[in-house]
Amino acid sequence: MLTTIIEDLAHEMAAEIGVPAEKVKNLFEIPKELSHGHLSIPVFFLAKERKKAPQILAKEISEKLLTRKIPSVERFESVGGYINIHLNDEHLFKALFNEVQAAGEHLGHNKRGAGKTVIIDYSSPNVAKPMHVGHLRATVIGQAIRNLAETQGYKVIGLNHLGDWGVQFGKLAYAYKLWSSEYPFAAEPFESLFKLYVRFHEEAAKDLELEKQGSLTFKELENGDKELLKLWKMFVEISLKDFSRLWARLGVKHDLVRGESFYNDRLNATEELIEKKGLLVESEGAMVVDLQDEKIPPCLIRKSDGASLYATRDLASAIYRMEELKADLNLYVVGADQALHFKQVFSVLRRLGYSWWDKCQHIGFGMYRFKDVGKMSSRKGQIVRLEDLLQRAVEIVQEIMHQKNPNLPNREKIAEQVAVGAIIFNDLVNDRVRDVEFDWDKALSFEGDSGPYLQYVHVRCQSILQKYGKGLPENVVALKSNEERELIKIIMRYEMVLIESFKNYKPSVLAIYLLDVCAAFNKFYHEHKIIGGEAEFESSRIALVYIAQQVIKGGLRVLNIQAPQAM
Ligand code: ARG
Repeated sequence: MLTTIIEDLAHEMAAEIGVPAEKVKNLFEIPKELSHGHLSIPVFFLAKERKKAPQILAKEISEKLLTRKIPSVERFESVGGYINIHLNDEHLFKALFNEVQAAGEHLGHNKRGAGKTVIIDYSSPNVAKPMHVGHLRATVIGQAIRNLAETQGYKVIGLNHLGDWGVQFGKLAYAYKLWSSEYPFAAEPFESLFKLYVRFHEEAAKDLELEKQGSLTFKELENGDKELLKLWKMFVEISLKDFSRLWARLGVKHDLVRGESFYNDRLNATEELIEKKGLLVESEGAMVVDLQDEKIPPCLIRKSDGASLYATRDLASAIYRMEELKADLNLYVVGADQALHFKQVFSVLRRLGYSWWDKCQHIGFGMYRFKDVGKMSSRKGQIVRLEDLLQRAVEIVQEIMHQKNPNLPNREKIAEQVAVGAIIFNDLVNDRVRDVEFDWDKALSFEGDSGPYLQYVHVRCQSILQKYGKGLPENVVALKSNEERELIKIIMRYEMVLIESFKNYKPSVLAIYLLDVCAAFNKFYHEHKIIGGEAEFESSRIALVYIAQQVIKGGLRVLNIQAPQAM
């Protein structure tokens, strides 16, 4: 979209500017005000190089450019140290319309990542524990970054680093042997498993022997006890089945499950590697890598009782991802509360001499806070289950829809799309590094800056196109009102927004942009009668509605939010 225009322009303008086209390409900026043109090039650094005043240089270059006939350009103008470029409205609109039609689902995509593999670790919950709102963020931010990577042409491997190993499995197996007959495992396997987990911890608080037995059972499991392994497998299967139900609701997909247990037979080799490098030291009976020179606590490799650790598994896992899966980039979408853990792991990788250590990156995010947790913490403790959150959202949306549009067909399906979309958007619209204050009214509002609002504008575009009923026009003419030109100018940024959003691993960049598109669309819609207004503009306005609809739909798709047919 904009990048094609920019590339062409860079070639056209290179000689006058006196800089190779490859460099000119990176000089463009988008002025805030449309009155300053669609694009501009600041010449300050060039002026410095050439020992000229910026405004004089800008003027000289503009004058040279004015003698050129570039089809996409209406006029050049110099203002201060800038060369402003006013594109030809008709040319721009036609190019945009053609491109949107040709691109289909690939609208705004590019090939920057072609030939490169990015691994993204997201969601990665723990067996036997229900996903809670903390996992919501790891799930939806991760999936959005995954989709963004795909728009950049990367080969993406979405990886589930399932928490499926550790002493808790000894405890769980022990609890299962003691009490499983008291729970409805056949009918409610996951719920029963979780109840066992909770019960074990409650009883172990009173009975120290239980804790000991749990640890012993884990040792047996680690030694390969067949019966225990069978139980463990069952726990994992039960859990994955439950998680899959939630992932399906959120539209989340992984390509590869590589749970923590996958690394069991690689841990010794990992430890040896660390030892050979002379990095392994003993500390209070445990084996660690000292990181004092970075002023951070040591990275624990093996506990005093011989059990391996979360960090050791992550070391083995990073080596596996980079060396065996041949990733070029290895991203971990995990809460900011694990920042130290990843710092330690990456630091050990660097000390091990892996040149790729800095291709491993922790994409952290802040926490969820509830304005009224009272409503949500129906179960024990303050953890809010993801499932409960979604259910409550569906109920509220159904109620709103019942009032707004009681005869809507397919209401149940649409309520699910709107509710889930609202929860996802409410999360993604926040800069991920900040905490999110969760407010039901804000998240589910049909009018505010919310998921339902975007979905609603999309439905509006669709129903205009339907009402028009004549398909897309063959030819379009320039649309010259302020609202129309503004909307076009925002839309032409779409590809750049995708680039920026991925570069910073911030889906919020795209989410906020989509709000801008919708606001500009609504202004256009309120100011101009699209069907049955000025006849000469009718089909072109329909084209503009179509373009906006495609961008909103494409953007929602990247954010993993569904676009309902009606609301
Ligand atoms: N299972 C962990 C949790 O629920 C997240 C795992 C993140 N990924 C990783 N490679 N450490 O907190």
